[in-house]
Amino acid sequence: MKIGILGCGAISNIIVTNIVSDNLDIDLSYFFDNDIERAENLANIAGGIAVLSFDEMIDKVDLVLEAASPSSVKTYASKVLEKGKDIIIMSIGSLMDIELRENLIKIAKENNTKIHAPSGAVVGLDGIRAVANLNLTETSLITRKSPKSLGKDSKKEEVLFEGKASEAVKKFPVNINVAAAISLACKRDIDVKIIVDPNVSRNIHEIIIKGEFGEFHTKVMNLPCNANPKTSVLAAFSAINLLKNFNSTFVIGN
Ligand SMILES: NC(=O)c1ccc[n+]([C@@H]2O[C@H](COP(=O)([O-])OP(=O)(O)OC[C@H]3O[C@@H](n4cnc5c(N)ncnc54)[C@H](O)[C@@H]3O)[C@@H](O)[C@H]2O)c1
Repeated sequence: MKIGILGCGAISNIIVTNIVSDNLDIDLSYFFDNDIERAENLANIAGGIAVLSFDEMIDKVDLVLEAASPSSVKTYASKVLEKGKDIIIMSIGSLMDIELRENLIKIAKENNTKIHAPSGAVVGLDGIRAVANLNLTETSLITRKSPKSLGKDSKKEEVLFEGKASEAVKKFPVNINVAAAISLACKRDIDVKIIVDPNVSRNIHEIIIKGEFGEFHTKVMNLPCNANPKTSVLAAFSAINLLKNFNSTFVIGN
């Protein structure tokens, strides 16, 4: 399976360097980024080809891995699906746009393709999906990040946002991927609190789900990427895991 990478920043760097160094049987063939130097850099590492336009790679790959931006999902995801190719979407916050999401799902169905959204920077989406159709009394996320990771200059701990995930999308776009992933997994507009904390160096996400099944509480304390402190290293590894699953006959936990 030939893979085309859309967006050659922090996440794709981790994906490519780990796939190459671990000698995994994953064919990273084409690389596209608005910044051609970034595409060339990753193409050199992977022994692939950097392209100047997205259209140059779309017919040559079997799957596109998007790790660029929400706007890139709007621009390119429908093209990928219309060509009968699968897409992995890292900028999952973009899918909080109901019209976009429903349109992409419709196109995917018509073309017998799939939209994959890895668990990204959190754990427990499998469990959340498993109980999504049950009566849930609490679905909440508390995110705690350093000022650097949130692009703030705060000297003290402060609640930056408290509200629904759908409002977070509009008011606090920096943190929407995790909130969006949980909301989409449990089919609800979850409660979100975002705290800036100068005493932490990790990106911390606590998820609380309660309902007729019982309850669970997960906490991840992610190392931020050096290249982009807003992004957690775990997000890249969740994409690598998804790519490995395509080659596996035994898939556990999905
Ligand atoms: N699902 C998750 O849990 C999760 C976690 C972290 C980040 N993300 C998302 O994944 C995406 C990538 O994150 P990152 O840290 O690698 O970002 P980054 O800024 O380090 O890299 C993004 C790259 O994509 C390129 N790019 C952006 N828009 C483009 C476009 N329209 N066409 C071509 N190239 C484009 C940029 O030039 C840049 O090189 C972001 O949208 C981020 O919000 C998701």
